[in-house]
Amino acid sequence: MKLKTKNLLTLAELSKKEFSQLIDFSIKLKRELKQGCNKPLLKNKTLTMIFQKPSTRTRVSFEIGMYQLGGYAINLSSNDMQLSRGESIEDTAKTLSRYTDCIMARVYDHYLLEKLSEYSSVPVINGLSDSFHPCQILADFMTIKEKKRKLKGLKLAWIGDGNNVCNSMIYGCSLSEMKMSIATPKGFEPKRNVVIEARKSSDIELTTDPFKAIKNADIVVTDTFTSIHDRDPKRTKKFLPKYQVNSDLMNHAKKDAIFMHCLPAKRGSEVTSSVIDGPQSVIWTEAENRLHSQKALLTFLIRA
Ligand code: CP
Ligand code: NVA
Repeated sequence: MKLKTKNLLTLAELSKKEFSQLIDFSIKLKRELKQGCNKPLLKNKTLTMIFQKPSTRTRVSFEIGMYQLGGYAINLSSNDMQLSRGESIEDTAKTLSRYTDCIMARVYDHYLLEKLSEYSSVPVINGLSDSFHPCQILADFMTIKEKKRKLKGLKLAWIGDGNNVCNSMIYGCSLSEMKMSIATPKGFEPKRNVVIEARKSSDIELTTDPFKAIKNADIVVTDTFTSIHDRDPKRTKKFLPKYQVNSDLMNHAKKDAIFMHCLPAKRGSEVTSSVIDGPQSVIWTEAENRLHSQKALLTFLIRA
């Protein structure tokens, strides 16, 4: 299986069929790995990773994923590259394309990824920008499919900041025809053009009321109130206490609802320990699934 798109920058590049096939292939790779059958699908292929911002899960899961697929990953901090001394994105993209089979980059400004993919002849994957986090959403929908056995028709409630993860989550809901209700304070809504685009396939509701958003939800999701690129130190205060996912709020979702968080989390801020460490939380499966879903993505993008 090969994707039509060369790059994965937002998630909107995928068709509904491709999204569903990626998720099913991720689940297959996970099962095979657990059974001790690890196929070298990317033997001798290389991935170059560029990080402008810190990472635990993305870095480790991509590096180990490439290793398990029989390939190799190089990890570069942008500070160690000539980029930090003013070499252009264009020249960087053209140079890297002569060495490597794929580039994954975590950047501050999404525009940089667009430039990187424009000048690169090999696939470019967004490992988190200020606007989107598509790899997280692949792992999240894999997790939802494993836990709920289906995607279409479910309701997902997003509580808190309409941030980068939320923007890609909206595309995920639209690709799988899931309803999404998003509760944010005024001024912290997700990108307007993303909501408009997603509404062509799915019911995407925007509200300021977390209790309205969470009603009848099968999945409850939140994220940090202060992302790596956010600069306002008083930002978190604008969300508390109303947008914290605590047991009281969680009790208004469906009884069998699952709780998700991409991590890293701040317990006592966007979520209480009673929820994130409680029986409805699936955060460790979600984190593990970064590995399997990115292996599926790399295979679909790189393999001839
Ligand atoms: N969820 C996520 O992307 O984690 P890292 O920032 O640790 O990579
Ligand atoms: N919204 C968070 C996600 C981290 C994985 C951030 O951008 O920092």
